[in-house]
Amino acid sequence: MDATPTTASVTTATAPGKVILFGEHAVVYGRPAIAVPVTDVQASATIENAPPGSGCTIHAPDIQTTVRLADAPEDQPLALCLRLALAAADISAEPDWRVTVRSTIPIAGGMGSGAGISTALARAALAHTGHPAPAEVVSRIVFAVEKLHHGTPSGIDNTVIAYGQPVWFVQGQPPQIFPVARPFHLLIADTGIASPTRQAVADVRAQWQARTAEFERIFVAIAAIVQTARQAISSGDVAALGPLMQQNQALLRQLDVSSPPLERLIAGAEQAGAEGAKLSGGGRGGNLIALVTAATGPRVTQALTSAGAVRVIPTEVGAG
Ligand code: PMV
Repeated sequence: MDATPTTASVTTATAPGKVILFGEHAVVYGRPAIAVPVTDVQASATIENAPPGSGCTIHAPDIQTTVRLADAPEDQPLALCLRLALAAADISAEPDWRVTVRSTIPIAGGMGSGAGISTALARAALAHTGHPAPAEVVSRIVFAVEKLHHGTPSGIDNTVIAYGQPVWFVQGQPPQIFPVARPFHLLIADTGIASPTRQAVADVRAQWQARTAEFERIFVAIAAIVQTARQAISSGDVAALGPLMQQNQALLRQLDVSSPPLERLIAGAEQAGAEGAKLSGGGRGGNLIALVTAATGPRVTQALTSAGAVRVIPTEVGAG
């Protein structure tokens, strides 16, 4: 269970991070994408009852932020998330709560740190008020908060994190949860270059407006890769995934969302034995993912680190 009332007056809820496996950017134009939760990193929110009349304070020590709900502006993300969760629980009066949010999900790295924190916070608030927290309600709340960060998010982050399952996502359609027939190992490597997704999405839009037919052809080709990848993942054909990652990366390059540091890390991973590697998320900087095995993982990790990765997170997709 993701939200556990630990005592009558303290509730803690958690949420994973995420990576996009296939289909970023094209997903903004109605094509499918596949994303998976990453449980090796985590956000958590703890709510404790405070003395009557003390109001509601949200502490986020990792980012040195403290927010008083009563004074917070409408566009303060933590306050907005909590207000939406309270509204979903039919609570209009400010509660007397001390809320603490923590996260080990890297910030601005395409791993869904904002959506993870919002998911944990919404879950904790709903659980603390004794209200059910179905994934679709949490996902909707988190999406509203994501709009503050990203402008026009596709909705993939809130969906995969609130559902906590691999998802096949098409904007405007209910997300499809699908099985992973055979778990596989990924390395998530951080270039250390903070790159706002919002800017990359805006740049792709400007190019799409200027070269619509060409960009639409690229999006169609990405959609075909995503479709094939889904079949491979749900039939356990892990060997097919490496070449598909390489093909997706070639198309992302054509969208101009790769960068020399990403390309250097991708080449380093493949030379060290990764079966495929690609950027994940908005691109330019942020993270890449590399498909490895238990045997090649340590060598590829070392290659990524030597090529400049500031962090490498191993994860097993579909395990447990
Ligand atoms: O950088 P991330 O992981 O938040 O992913 C962005 C994915 C895009 O497709 C580029 C944008 C979106 O909203 O889906």
